[in-house]
Amino acid sequence: MNFKEKYNKIKSEAPHEVLKSQNAGELDKARSKYIGRKGVVTSLFKELGGIPHQERPLWGKKLNSLKKEIENLIEKQKNSIRKEKSKKEFFDPTLPVEHYRYPGRNPAARTMDEITSLFISMGFGVAYGPEIETEYNNFTALNFPKDHPARDMQDTFYVDENWLLRTHTSPVQIRVMKESKPPVKLVAPGKCYRRDTLDASHLPVFHQVEGLMIDRKISFSHLKGVLECFTRKYFGGKVKTRFRPSFFPFTEPSAEVDISCTICMGKGCSSCSGKGWLEILGAGMVDPNVLENCGIDKNKWQGFAFGMGVERIAMLKYGIDDIRYFIQNDKRFLEQF
Ligand code: DAH
Repeated sequence: MNFKEKYNKIKSEAPHEVLKSQNAGELDKARSKYIGRKGVVTSLFKELGGIPHQERPLWGKKLNSLKKEIENLIEKQKNSIRKEKSKKEFFDPTLPVEHYRYPGRNPAARTMDEITSLFISMGFGVAYGPEIETEYNNFTALNFPKDHPARDMQDTFYVDENWLLRTHTSPVQIRVMKESKPPVKLVAPGKCYRRDTLDASHLPVFHQVEGLMIDRKISFSHLKGVLECFTRKYFGGKVKTRFRPSFFPFTEPSAEVDISCTICMGKGCSSCSGKGWLEILGAGMVDPNVLENCGIDKNKWQGFAFGMGVERIAMLKYGIDDIRYFIQNDKRFLEQF
């Protein structure tokens, strides 16, 4: 293409291209294509040197006015894009409001309060402990010997050798028993941390409610009575509770507690993997070693303890199938509570 052909091509195409730009980005592209530093009009200026001497002023003038013409068109298009945009954004105060239910509290916080209130109604007190705990309170005093494999079940964020982010709310038991004399009857709600990878059933930060009752002549049947009362009040009168033997270093004997599946009523469905039962918490009789570690006479006092994951309880109650919903702050999830 010679100089003249290039000029004609630009003159016929440029206006079209500028005027079809729909937004600032497209307009910018058109500007740099034609009159930017590397634009085609700009490079045509550089080719003026190759034009015969006598025609050069004429083509120089033509190029200048073509450039001006494109600049004007760009300005015009810019204004009309702006007008179009403000028309779209026009705020009409007479339109009816969008009815919107403001999300309530996060269901984990709410569930933790509900569980705590239920135990308060059964005469339990409430105790809190710090989220940064000593390795001693979190493990050693709870009868996890150093290097015991049970510590591996709770993959831990260590602050240093002696301090960690508590992996459960059980260390609150230790704090209370060391500081006060029995009888003790309390629940300890709060945040816990484990080095778990985030997936549908694990969060590295989650909540637990721990329970502890120490008195004279406390037996496993007291534990069963209290927990059955809790499951019936929380999940409804028809729910059945089952205790399975298990192991925790700080209780002896230990049990895992299940409730009959709230979806299929115990018949077996996909939520309970066909078993008819859902695991809800761990519990047991406080190991005499734990009492001794806290300076309590194991011959005079006994007790039970239990611990439950708050998100897990909420998931079972509301049929939530992915624990990550609790932390995504998605209005569509939060609005439902
Ligand atoms: N601390 C246990 C955990 O996080 C839960 C637990 C089980 C607490 C049994 C208890 C108990 O007090 O008796 O896995």
